[in-house]
Amino acid sequence: MKPINVGLLGVGTVGGGTFNVLKRNAEEIARRAGRVIQVTAVADKNVELAKQVTAGACRVTDDAFSIVVDPDIDIVVELIGGYGVARELVLKAIENGKHVVTANKALLAMHGNEIFSAAQKKGVTVAFEAAVAGGIPIIKALREGLTANRIEWIAGIINGTTNFILSEMRDKGLPFAAVLKEAQKLGYAEADPTFDIEGIDAAHKLTLMSAIAFGTPVAFDKAYIEGISKLDAVDIKYAEQLGYRIKLLGITKRTPEGVELRVHPTLIPAKRLIANVEGAMNAVLVKGDAVGATLYYGKGAGAEPTASSVIADLVDVTRMHTADPEHRVPHLAFQPDAMVDLPVLPLSEIVTSYYLRLRVEDKPGVLADITRILADHQISIDAMIQREPGEGEEQTDIIMLTHQTREKNIDAALARIEQLSVVNGKVTRLRLEELV
Ligand code: HSE
Repeated sequence: MKPINVGLLGVGTVGGGTFNVLKRNAEEIARRAGRVIQVTAVADKNVELAKQVTAGACRVTDDAFSIVVDPDIDIVVELIGGYGVARELVLKAIENGKHVVTANKALLAMHGNEIFSAAQKKGVTVAFEAAVAGGIPIIKALREGLTANRIEWIAGIINGTTNFILSEMRDKGLPFAAVLKEAQKLGYAEADPTFDIEGIDAAHKLTLMSAIAFGTPVAFDKAYIEGISKLDAVDIKYAEQLGYRIKLLGITKRTPEGVELRVHPTLIPAKRLIANVEGAMNAVLVKGDAVGATLYYGKGAGAEPTASSVIADLVDVTRMHTADPEHRVPHLAFQPDAMVDLPVLPLSEIVTSYYLRLRVEDKPGVLADITRILADHQISIDAMIQREPGEGEEQTDIIMLTHQTREKNIDAALARIEQLSVVNGKVTRLRLEELV
């Protein structure tokens, strides 16, 4: 069978990795795909770089639009990133009947519904394994491997930068700002780290997984997003004393009232496998009703790990190229006419457990006042520690773990607790998941 022609948009880290792996493993990949997958055109603003990467193997241009309208191209691989020109290129490629493979989580989180609907109308595929957790085949697992299951929840460490920072904060007892600087020096964090440290990148990925898990539209605008920039190293230490680690988790859960969709620093039991995912690694835990809990682990970024996912999509699209669109795996795992628009719950309605750190006067009756308020709001305490006050110190820290409750109950209780004259400042509140 004649080769399938690919147009590659962007030869940065992932584009270069994709080109190299496709070349290195060409024979093995063709044996799997049933035909040769050949990159026939590459577009990059930096034409010199594109020429260097491709070494004369294909046409090089700085005009990406010329590729998405080229009748000889079957599949467009979009590795430009962002949601400006990338959106226009992807929609134009679809309009021109091309399948699209993309690693662009931001684009799909923001404009996925528009893009999937355009692809559906045109009978082409938009594949995005590389958009979530880099080299881990989590989209394939959710969409196909777990297809028998009613998925109950997903909890993932899906941002390597923040996981690296949290690992360093714990190992070295350093504050966030110092570790961020070190991470930037080592190239783990970008010069502008906002998307990573504020949880936005994780939320992009989480919303895609949630849509596939529950058969709902992509709902990034409804996600609750809290990053790690305000996390205090002292809470990592106290969590450890209580047998927990703090990870930036993307969590999505199906509940009778709707879907929870949230990214925030989370205490998880130190004995869980996922709690031991360190450095820049990613891991996703998926709970299905039939299979139980399953865990997927690997590199969430980098040239060849991400290329591994891009090429997996290229092989899938190649195999299904001649299949009638109804016989392909749907973009979001569920048939388009079987999607349901489940409500995404506001944060006040989520149910979870809590870690509370209070700075209090060390005198009789303080604990009684606090626990009375918690009891008034039906909040049950699971564990508690009190730091031994230093010599002559009149204040101390109390750390409490609660059983599960609704966020609005905690909000109401904390508002009252913060009014107590014996409690100083704001109460630190972190969410806790047992992950069972
Ligand atoms: N910046 C991401 C991370 C990788 O730190 O995991 C690309 O999504």
